[in-house]
Amino acid sequence: MIGIFDSGIGGLSVFKELVRLLPDERYVYFSDSRNCPYGPKAAPFIKERSSQITDFLIGQGAEIIVVACNTATAAAIKHLRENYRMPFVGMEPAIKPAILRSESGVVGVLATAGTLKGALYLNTLATFKGDVKVIERIGEGLVEAVERADFDSPEVEGLLRSYIEPMLDEGADHIVLGCTHYPFLLDTIKKIVDGRAKIVNPAPAVARQADRLYAKKAHHDDTPFCTFYSSAAFTEPVKELARSLTASPCEFYDNTL
Ligand code: DGL
Repeated sequence: MIGIFDSGIGGLSVFKELVRLLPDERYVYFSDSRNCPYGPKAAPFIKERSSQITDFLIGQGAEIIVVACNTATAAAIKHLRENYRMPFVGMEPAIKPAILRSESGVVGVLATAGTLKGALYLNTLATFKGDVKVIERIGEGLVEAVERADFDSPEVEGLLRSYIEPMLDEGADHIVLGCTHYPFLLDTIKKIVDGRAKIVNPAPAVARQADRLYAKKAHHDDTPFCTFYSSAAFTEPVKELARSLTASPCEFYDNTL
């Protein structure tokens, strides 16, 4: 079974890619909705929560864990890899390919505060930046909007415009989505970018990495295709979104962990 977790439903953007690649596997997803957003939280808290969630997912049968959250990856993946003997796949803002492919020499990155100050991001930036200009922006309010299943209201479009337009004005030809919640805003982002830059979503690459690391199993039992757990409660629109990503029956459990 493949375990996935995020501070909320953002990890569903990675789940979607996993299901595409590994449709015959079984999944267990944990949404730490009670503690969402992780972005402004201190790294030790996220590290501790990530360990608790990992224990929980292992208890549910997970044999590999996809940390489908850039912020949790930044705060905790090193700790998880040192403390558990199972494969972990993490998120990393895709600034390396964006920097290497940029022709204008300007790249925009939209991510949470925790991701942008994490060693993972800063090291990648230091290694590949060269003389490319990297414009960083914290996507304030976006995670909360996605959690409300608000992907395209005027308010959300306004927020996105205020983050992305200045990047485009400065000549960015790549906009990196450095938070797993943001791909749910893709249609609105595309409308704003209007072909002026390439939008980079690392989720497909992360799913391919999980595919490489996971020893596939044949499932002939009654295990549901995916069991979704939340530390708060799943709203109806979120359940609908989750169901829309799978062809098979799923189960939902609230107030876990
Ligand atoms: N989806 C997460 C990420 O990729 C977490 C966002 C948050 O909770 O602030 O960073």
